[in-house]
Amino acid sequence: MMTTRKRSVRDLQVKGKRVFVRVDFNVPLSHGAVSDDTRIRSSLPTLKLILEAGGSAVIASHLGRPKGKPAPELSLKPAGERLAALLGRKVLVAPDCVGAAAEELAGRLGPGEALLLENLRFHPEEEKNDAEFGRSLARLADLYVNDAFGAAHRAHASVVAVTRHLPDPAAGLLMQSEVQALTRLRDHPEKPYVAVLGGAKASDKIDLIHNLLTRVDAILIGGAMAYTFLKARGVPVGTSKIETDRVEGAADIISRAMNTGVRLHLPVDHVVAQSPEPGRPHRLTDTAHIDDGWCGFDIGPRSREAYAEEVRAAATIFWNGPLGMCEVEPYDAGTSAMARAIASTRAFSVVGGGDSVAAVNRLGLASRFSHISTGGGASLEFLSGVELPGLLALSDVTESAPGRAR
Ligand code: 3PG
Repeated sequence: MMTTRKRSVRDLQVKGKRVFVRVDFNVPLSHGAVSDDTRIRSSLPTLKLILEAGGSAVIASHLGRPKGKPAPELSLKPAGERLAALLGRKVLVAPDCVGAAAEELAGRLGPGEALLLENLRFHPEEEKNDAEFGRSLARLADLYVNDAFGAAHRAHASVVAVTRHLPDPAAGLLMQSEVQALTRLRDHPEKPYVAVLGGAKASDKIDLIHNLLTRVDAILIGGAMAYTFLKARGVPVGTSKIETDRVEGAADIISRAMNTGVRLHLPVDHVVAQSPEPGRPHRLTDTAHIDDGWCGFDIGPRSREAYAEEVRAAATIFWNGPLGMCEVEPYDAGTSAMARAIASTRAFSVVGGGDSVAAVNRLGLASRFSHISTGGGASLEFLSGVELPGLLALSDVTESAPGRAR
């Protein structure tokens, strides 16, 4: 029997070659320094593999949304410094990602050397998947590896157009491990399967929830999007943020969940305040009902316990998005409680999305999760069944089963 898989960086002969490595260094910065380096650390296995095999790496990423213009505060220099410290090697940072200076620096790279290009999104052509821009990027290297799972849902020039000009575009090791973990969730999750979904916007997750309804046993909803669902159930939510244009979609999900026997949990109590500023008074509600003038900022203790109970019984757990306004104390308690509840299970557990992953890291619980996904939007789209442009652009390898384990 023949099987098809994506070409891997391990299949490439990188010795003496310059490899264009698309990474996702879209990391949080604070006072000009990287404040969470999870994504940079996650790229190390691929970069080390290339550099230790005698290749050189031309590393490219976006950072933030500079709208096609240079923005000094979104320079990749701080990411370059952190990468150099983690790799224990010098990492040159090019002043731009295309053009004469970048070509000269890339051309001078020797085996084991690394060059980080400046933010791809300083050029509008990147997000337009411009063919000529893709060709300019390809001029910097001999081979192409995509390790930017977090950007695999973006059909941008460094993800798609560039692959048309370099032979055998391959997946990096992070890309492979992300796809492997998420494929297990998408195609053959062990039951009971519980999805925990938070974050600000219901609109980001409606497609995913529709898709999940046919696969999961329970969905636990928190974060600001819970108020849109509560509104759809006719529960008063005070001044909590709701997306009026999504209330109908939320109502549809609630009725589909009832018809398919999926347990869809919404918060049964909340931590509410009149304003979220730290130090301003807050209180707990007795029920899901929020009074006029009050706004929900976190799930309450009874909701936390009900959610933890579902999680404890699960064999597979997917978690994306914080359950409250987790950057402000005390509204981080629901998110922290969820991180601890999942960490204490033996389930196959995957967490994705910047804020939920940051909470897991802050609590020192990362090693208790089966997989920490570096992709927020990318993991949601993958699980929704969308074919990611970044994966489609990579070449396939067909081999006879069982094939080499990767
Ligand atoms: C992410 O942070 O999810 C990725 O880096 C993609 O960023 P984007 O949403 O700005 O395209």
